[in-house]
Amino acid sequence: MGTTLHTSNPLRDPADRRLPRIPEPCALVIFGVTGDLAKKKLIPAVYDLANRGLLPASFVIVGFARRDWGDETFEEMAREAAKSHARTPWREEVWARLAGNFKFVPGAFDDDEAFDKLDATVDELRVSHGIVGNAAFYFSIPPLAFPTVLKQLKRTGMSDNRQDGGGWRRVVVEKPFGEDRKSAAELNKLVDDVFTANDVFRIDHYLGKETVQNIFALRFANAMFEPIWNSNYVDHVQITMAEDVGIGSRAGFYDDNGAARDVLQNHVLQLLAIAAMEQPNGFEAEEIRTEKLKVLRAIKLHDDLEATAIRGQYADGWVQGQPVKGYLSEDNIPPTSTTETYAAVQLGIQNRRWNGVPFYLRTGKRLPKRVTEIAVVFKEAPHMPFADYDTKTLGNNQLVIRVQPDEGITVKFGSKVPGTGMELRDISMGFGYGETFTESSPEAYERLILDVLLGDKTLFPDAQEVDASWAVVDPLEEYWANTKPEPYESGTWGPSGADLMLQSSGRRWRRA
Ligand code: BG6
Repeated sequence: MGTTLHTSNPLRDPADRRLPRIPEPCALVIFGVTGDLAKKKLIPAVYDLANRGLLPASFVIVGFARRDWGDETFEEMAREAAKSHARTPWREEVWARLAGNFKFVPGAFDDDEAFDKLDATVDELRVSHGIVGNAAFYFSIPPLAFPTVLKQLKRTGMSDNRQDGGGWRRVVVEKPFGEDRKSAAELNKLVDDVFTANDVFRIDHYLGKETVQNIFALRFANAMFEPIWNSNYVDHVQITMAEDVGIGSRAGFYDDNGAARDVLQNHVLQLLAIAAMEQPNGFEAEEIRTEKLKVLRAIKLHDDLEATAIRGQYADGWVQGQPVKGYLSEDNIPPTSTTETYAAVQLGIQNRRWNGVPFYLRTGKRLPKRVTEIAVVFKEAPHMPFADYDTKTLGNNQLVIRVQPDEGITVKFGSKVPGTGMELRDISMGFGYGETFTESSPEAYERLILDVLLGDKTLFPDAQEVDASWAVVDPLEEYWANTKPEPYESGTWGPSGADLMLQSSGRRWRRA
């Protein structure tokens, strides 16, 4: 009787995701490894994954940057970064296992020799660390540098899945993916010319957030929400992504982009797509993307952009009890800059489910607090058999998906105030992650890096989604091109135009 060599557990159903999946041996090559994203998010996420036992034993991090570093210096920097920013507790023994697996290749993006060295390094790792040729290339670099790096990966053959000895090759591209529809298309062409489409992972870290993935569960695993999730019952939807921070040290990047390109085009529209999409046929990447794409393509801006596309720019003010300076006084921002730090837009979705339901989106920096939420605001009850004075303070029912920071869901509805009368008041019922689950949620980057290494594209927007999102933002940018953003005092909820936008139809922003 012959013996069969099982490479996987024959008793395990591959569709059962309850047991953690561990990637194959591989390398993660990070371009821009000295930048903020790598230090604050990527390297700490790698440590957290290692700490949770989710990385393969043969896993190498290769850094590439213009620094005169050796492997040890890189490892020290990574250790510092992981220690300061990791989500999970620090465990020396976990780091000790990773520590021998840091490689650094110094060089500039236009330096052929440095890329030859990188190629040779990745090749050597096959034998030295048993990575069997698998490598993911993470572009944590300014978009302007993408073409040069892509060309180098192509020239050296590093991007080729079929190089001698096999192994997968994937690329991870950070947003912003282009700066408008045209540049995004050019960039796509370039990336597709170097990597096979299936190996391109476009990061939108909002999709890695637990609370965002939970929207699928809320809507499609329950019987009670979906029947009312449409224009028969929903009055309007508000999506808020507010930050109390300013632009930090990213003046150059921010001033070239502004709030609409930085977050509306990606994070906020992805939230909208997931909140508004039809039920996918399954949870495979392709099925979800098909439904998201249909929504994004059905978005229509209002004809009157003056009233429904509002831009603002933060001025001096106070945030969380501290005085802060206005955008125009930030370091390295030209005093004449017309870049927006706040954007609010009213959109419609042209399909049967959402016909006539306004979607109000707003995002801004230096607002009173950090909060991201999706509020579905329902219509009034069709008939109220109560006296006017009893319902005076009653608002519309709301279902609020609290994406962050106080993760959970709130349902707001009317209730009788105890007593002899029939006075009604809004009350809320809530679910909070903190009180409900003992395990804290992973950071978005933990989930997304793991998915890249596993080759799972479910949580990554594809080129068509990026295109459809730019198709929404391009006309806004065009309209705004010759206007100035309205100043708003730091620590307030943005420019008055955004309030007027809702007031004109008798609505108002939720106090998030
Ligand atoms: C990034 C934007 O994509 O998201 C930043 O470029 C923003 O401007 C950040 O601050 C917010 O992310 P989070 O996860 O803190 O909400």
